[in-house]
Amino acid sequence: MTAAIAADIDLNHSTERAKVSTVLTPNFYTTDYAAIDRMDVEPIRAEWDKLMAEFEADANSDHFDRDEGFGKAVTDLPPALKAEFIEFLISSCTSEFSGCVLYAELKRRAKNPDMRDVFGYMARDESRHANFLNQSLKDFGLGVDLNLLKRVKKYKYFAPKFIMYATYLSEKIGYARYIKIFRHLEKHPERRFHPIFKWFEKWCNDEYRHGEAFALLMHAHPELLRGRNLLWIRFFLLAVYATMYVRDHTRPELYDAFGMDITKYDYEVFEITSACAAQIFPFSLDIDNPAFRAGFERLRLLGIANEKARERGGVVSALKRVGYGIAAAATFARLYTLPVVRHAKPAQVRMAPAW
Ligand SMILES: [Fe+2]
Ligand SMILES: [Fe+2]
Repeated sequence: MTAAIAADIDLNHSTERAKVSTVLTPNFYTTDYAAIDRMDVEPIRAEWDKLMAEFEADANSDHFDRDEGFGKAVTDLPPALKAEFIEFLISSCTSEFSGCVLYAELKRRAKNPDMRDVFGYMARDESRHANFLNQSLKDFGLGVDLNLLKRVKKYKYFAPKFIMYATYLSEKIGYARYIKIFRHLEKHPERRFHPIFKWFEKWCNDEYRHGEAFALLMHAHPELLRGRNLLWIRFFLLAVYATMYVRDHTRPELYDAFGMDITKYDYEVFEITSACAAQIFPFSLDIDNPAFRAGFERLRLLGIANEKARERGGVVSALKRVGYGIAAAATFARLYTLPVVRHAKPAQVRMAPAW
């Protein structure tokens, strides 16, 4: 087999992985584009224009250029760490590209100049992020075929308000995840096993800014933040946190290489995300409640049991998996009914990234 054919197979393999849609893998979304295009920013015009000026200034325009440190770092990673790191790169690249596709489509269909601007800027940033990650995958002889992925990945329809809650949270949690890793490796540079982590600080400011755009949009449409919609907000907070918790715990080698405790890291990320989300949501999940933490542990253990049954295969395992699914849904429902921490709305929506 020639090297070219081998590289082709590997490329297909990582694209295959990126194509898989499960509860935990990054998904692609469609929505009611016209409804989002009708969103009016007049109630927050001054703040909106300030944010658009920041996007326009494009502080990270030359940040995503690689230096000579890339390409060298990949050969001598221990195999288990290498496997998890590649998984991390594929999943991050897919998730960045998912944002890019959604924002680009919103921009393409927009007639409202405000929506055309904001989604254009955000698609620009996410495309840079996805390509930057993809270049690191290519150092491993891998890479996600982004054009193919765009065509073949299954899309989920999300109503506009769900797009607001889910993308807002994923931008803010993305910021929190990257800044926590960056700050940790700043203190422990000997643990930085790949140069990409040096890029996380400025990178996560893009994600933070994307989150600010959604915060302003929701603020301009206060009906999204009251009444029955609060039940949806609670659902999305829990779903986003739980997905991250279960998925991060499937990467023990990666966090071990960082010298980080996964559970501690995840709760620190939740803490930052909750502090950010207080700008717009009138409550946070009570992440310090022992029942909350026990529920998350149960979800994690059910996830492991489910994965083991999936690997074993057969009828008995299939039945067991149904049982684990029911138990996970019941655990999620219990977590959903735990009391939340309520807080007053701050005088000003916008917040500086202070972590
Ligand atoms: Fe991004
Ligand atoms: Fe983003």
